[in-house]
Amino acid sequence: MTKDEKLAALHDRWATNNTCELKATATRHVPGAGPASARIVFIGEAPGKREDEQGIPFVGAAGKFLGEMLESIKLRREDVYITNIVKYRPPDNRDPEPEEKEACAAWLYEELNLIRPKLIVFLGRHAMHDFFPNLKISDVHGTLVHQRFDKIHTEYFLPLYHPASALYNGALRGTLQADFARIPLILDKITKNGTVDAYGNEKLAAEDQEN
Ligand code: URA
Repeated sequence: MTKDEKLAALHDRWATNNTCELKATATRHVPGAGPASARIVFIGEAPGKREDEQGIPFVGAAGKFLGEMLESIKLRREDVYITNIVKYRPPDNRDPEPEEKEACAAWLYEELNLIRPKLIVFLGRHAMHDFFPNLKISDVHGTLVHQRFDKIHTEYFLPLYHPASALYNGALRGTLQADFARIPLILDKITKNGTVDAYGNEKLAAEDQEN
């Protein structure tokens, strides 16, 4: 089996076996999308109406904006992997409840550990709080975080504002676009040095200025 086939099988298994109660109201599960070889994984909150209809993450207005930001850094959707902490649409797009996140957590960790991306980008505070409950998105957006966890292999994390909240807010939109523009440099440093210690945020910020 190829890595992509293993990923597809993983989603099929979890779609059958998970205990998330949102299953009862959602049309279908929305698995992560993208190649199993992706070096970057983007994690959002939960599917919305369009995602629930199509079974693909980030295909609505926020997804279109995400696609534009990817293009601005010369990446296509097919180059990255996009997923959500919760795989079913909550009714009326309400925030997912803690037990709904818990029911999908092992599913998320298993997909992350199969892909083993170099960088995980959190789209919004809900995704970030799953890993860093004490961080505030307004303090850390656009800042590379290095942390080792027992549950996943990836050690580098970039929290960003959620594209949906930035879409119609001019100031947030500019901030998100500027944070997004740092991704290639961050990825380059992580990939080349293999260790965060060689490249703290100050050094990254200084190189940003030069570029
Ligand atoms: N917002 C999310 O967090 N995820 C999606 O898939 C779509 C919108």
